[in-house]
Amino acid sequence: MSTTASCYELCDLDDIADPGSRGFELMLGAQPPQRLFVVRKGGILAAYRNRCPHTGAPLEWLPNQFLDLDNSFIQCAIHGALFRPEDGYCLRGPCVGQSLEPLALEVVDSRIRVRLQPGYRLPAEG
Ligand code: FES
Repeated sequence: MSTTASCYELCDLDDIADPGSRGFELMLGAQPPQRLFVVRKGGILAAYRNRCPHTGAPLEWLPNQFLDLDNSFIQCAIHGALFRPEDGYCLRGPCVGQSLEPLALEVVDSRIRVRLQPGYRLPAEG
């Protein structure tokens, strides 16, 4: 087994507007495709699993649209929960006080990557 984290390249930094967001499906071995997204706002660039802590539903309103109308918060399309872009913490809605699952992110040569530790397994899709 590898002792180093695995990197998964997602896209170019310029592929995500500022402010903006983009969703991805990541293949991890034999697991079904796992949904995640990257949000960009000012100096913030963060990746989260695309799963609302309330019901497990995907968050986006439209493809790649995870931010609210004024691009202040990540907003769940189902019941409107609001999450801080910088840490995924829920400030308002049915899952207040809970957080999105963060994924380690890095930018190398303007390419955005998520970095997963050896043996990392996303929980089963809900
Ligand atoms: S499913 Fe996201 S707030 Fe209910």
